[in-house]
Amino acid sequence: MHKVIYDTDPGVDDAMALLFLHRHPEIDLIGITTVFGNASVETTTRNALFLKREWDIPAPVAKGASVTIDPARRERPWPTMVHGENGLGDMPVPETIDLPVDPRPAHRFIIETVRANPGEVTLVAVGRMTNLALALKEDPEIASLVKGVVIMGGNFYVPGNVSPVAEANIHGDPEAADIVMTAPWKVVVIGLDVTAITTMSRSYLRDMAAKGDKAVRQLDELSQSYIDFYKHAVEDGMMVHDSCAAVYVVAPDLFSTITGPVRVVCGGIADGQTVVKPDGRRFPPGDWDGLPSQVVATGIESEKVLDLIRDTLLRA
Ligand code: BDR
Ligand code: CA
Repeated sequence: MHKVIYDTDPGVDDAMALLFLHRHPEIDLIGITTVFGNASVETTTRNALFLKREWDIPAPVAKGASVTIDPARRERPWPTMVHGENGLGDMPVPETIDLPVDPRPAHRFIIETVRANPGEVTLVAVGRMTNLALALKEDPEIASLVKGVVIMGGNFYVPGNVSPVAEANIHGDPEAADIVMTAPWKVVVIGLDVTAITTMSRSYLRDMAAKGDKAVRQLDELSQSYIDFYKHAVEDGMMVHDSCAAVYVVAPDLFSTITGPVRVVCGGIADGQTVVKPDGRRFPPGDWDGLPSQVVATGIESEKVLDLIRDTLLRA
């Protein structure tokens, strides 16, 4: 069993990954931590509570960061054209959900849960890296106490999606992402190189909804405007970014990877760009030296990943 804390900003594709983590038989989802990104943290927390209630998910929800780790950064408008005004594709969601939130801030929830389960917890982070960076700052030792970290974020040998060189989760808090990438823990980076080519068509999703229960029908409903948005890049379908990171936890063999230290550009026109120095390549002394080697996904068996997602979501 993989004990997972899911750090998320739901988020349309975040919702699909949440249902995957909840339903996969080898995953024990022990916590959901929220972060700002696809919407404010108030909204993403409300959405996490909504999905927890609708889908009967036992894991507690802890509310996380509302601003970047460097307070000098100015927030940009929320990406409502992608995830809707309410972060869930504008499906009807009540203003408030009558469920308790864990009293701890997300980063402390992460610290205490990791310390209570040394060597056992995998962090799956699919929003901005702010909560993870805050956890590392407050308690650097957790780096040696987690089992692993799998993130959805970044782009290495393909263009970005919020600038020609940067992906949204990293661009949304580059300083936090650089802290996470350079800490002495094992980070698996599932970026646009693999997620942008893993697209679920509208008809595949509709077919799943026809076979599935209420939760899968809700996923289909909340994904429709997201699919409309993606028309410029995908032929009638959606990139299942966050689910790819969730899938990696149970099926790493469906990915090909390279290893090497990863840095994040902080500032300037390449703000938020992720850059790996592949192990074995020689360069003059530079800013990647002496840092831990991370795992960067460069290839994916997309069809098999989509089928695993479908088979898992249909296990009601
Ligand atoms: C990432 O950004 C968000 O819009 C998605 O939820 C995903 O985590 C893709 O760049
Ligand atoms: Ca996300």
